[in-house]
Amino acid sequence: MEKIDILLLGAGGREHALLMKLSDSPRAGKLYVAPGNGGMLQMAELAPVNQDSPTEVADWAAQNGIGLVVVGPEAPLVEGVADAVRAQGIPCFGPDASAARMEGSKEFAKQVMARADVPTAAYRSFTDRTACEDYVRELAGPCVIKADGLAAGKGVIVAQTTEEALVGVAQCFDGAFGAAGNTVVVEEMLEGPECSLLALTDGQTVVPLATSQDHKRAYDGDKGPNTGGMGVYSPVPEHLVSAGDLAAMTDVMNRVVAQLNTDGITYSGCLYGGFMLTKDGPKVLEFNARFGDPETQVVLPRMKADLVEVFLACDNGTLDASMISWDDDCAVSVVLASAGYPGSYESGKRITGVQEAAAQPGITVYHAGTKLDADGNTLTAGGRVLDVTAVAPTFAEARANAYAACDLIDFEGKQFRTDIGAKAM
Ligand code: AMP
Ligand code: GLY
Repeated sequence: MEKIDILLLGAGGREHALLMKLSDSPRAGKLYVAPGNGGMLQMAELAPVNQDSPTEVADWAAQNGIGLVVVGPEAPLVEGVADAVRAQGIPCFGPDASAARMEGSKEFAKQVMARADVPTAAYRSFTDRTACEDYVRELAGPCVIKADGLAAGKGVIVAQTTEEALVGVAQCFDGAFGAAGNTVVVEEMLEGPECSLLALTDGQTVVPLATSQDHKRAYDGDKGPNTGGMGVYSPVPEHLVSAGDLAAMTDVMNRVVAQLNTDGITYSGCLYGGFMLTKDGPKVLEFNARFGDPETQVVLPRMKADLVEVFLACDNGTLDASMISWDDDCAVSVVLASAGYPGSYESGKRITGVQEAAAQPGITVYHAGTKLDADGNTLTAGGRVLDVTAVAPTFAEARANAYAACDLIDFEGKQFRTDIGAKAM
């Protein structure tokens, strides 16, 4: 079997999980990462490229005989890295820039959803601040304010009152989210449990992956500010997501990919659907053009597949559902974060106990915000530091094992939620 060298872009827990799964494939040759993190750089070589530069990535990949480029985060996709890599004749996992607009522009995603008749929150979008403020006052109640463009997961303000909504509108137009806030989307507030559904697609065939549920708020009981995600579990049990909900969500993913096709856009890669399970059925909160973080850290450990073959099939149009099957096990992943996250935090704290934790049965520790010092010690280097994932036959065991492993790891300021996966039980 011919081995191929792989370049993976990104530096988070999602990318560490992707790297581990890729490395399990008999087709995996040399592994390169840009920029990587402390965990990834223990198993792959650093590629000296700026991940957001299409020409740098594509040229380096061509010069170094790379056979597959895997793009983890959204920013390089929106910048057109996948287009540039494919233009060099190199297979790439991740959508072209035209398709990545499903995440890069909330307005664009809403228009596609409307054409595809996909249920989502009612909305209006504004480039004029006064018109936007007038509309928010007219609503006179709860609504959700969203910066249109990419804002690293921060450009969403869930406002219970008109005052909170006006603060959100001001933040967007005053540049708190940069150019992403030049257009502002005002949405109806939806209620219900949330559920993420990732799907792989080659532009025609859509293969849904296992469901998962993120915990977006910083503190126990879903309190505190929104974060990138403080923990996650998979699968979401039937008391939260019924078979009917799941069929409806799968139908949404199929309809969106088909609609993009009709519009002349081939979506190849992972499409992430964020859903609210409302009393009227699942409604879309957002689409992302990539794997979820931390969803990937519970979905991939349960997936039985040769990820290199699957990613190549997404690129070349030969994806087939038979390439992927699932473990019956339950997975729970707890994020260990730096004190202060999602606000400001300190970095450079020495981390101990990762090897001991990872040696426990069923435990994998994915690095998120870490780096190695000159002596090979692991230091904190981000808000979300580590993802401690446990896979076990029941949620009770997975939760107990994950938290026992979290206790073995230490760094100054370590904080985490203690209720990850509790809703699954
Ligand atoms: P997004 O980045 O669009 O997924 O938004 C981040 C989080 O904000 C979501 O996970 C939800 O918790 C919340 N959210 C977004 N849109 C809505 C909405 N229309 N109604 C209620 N909550 C929302
Ligand atoms: N877990 C949320 C995201 O990946 O956007």
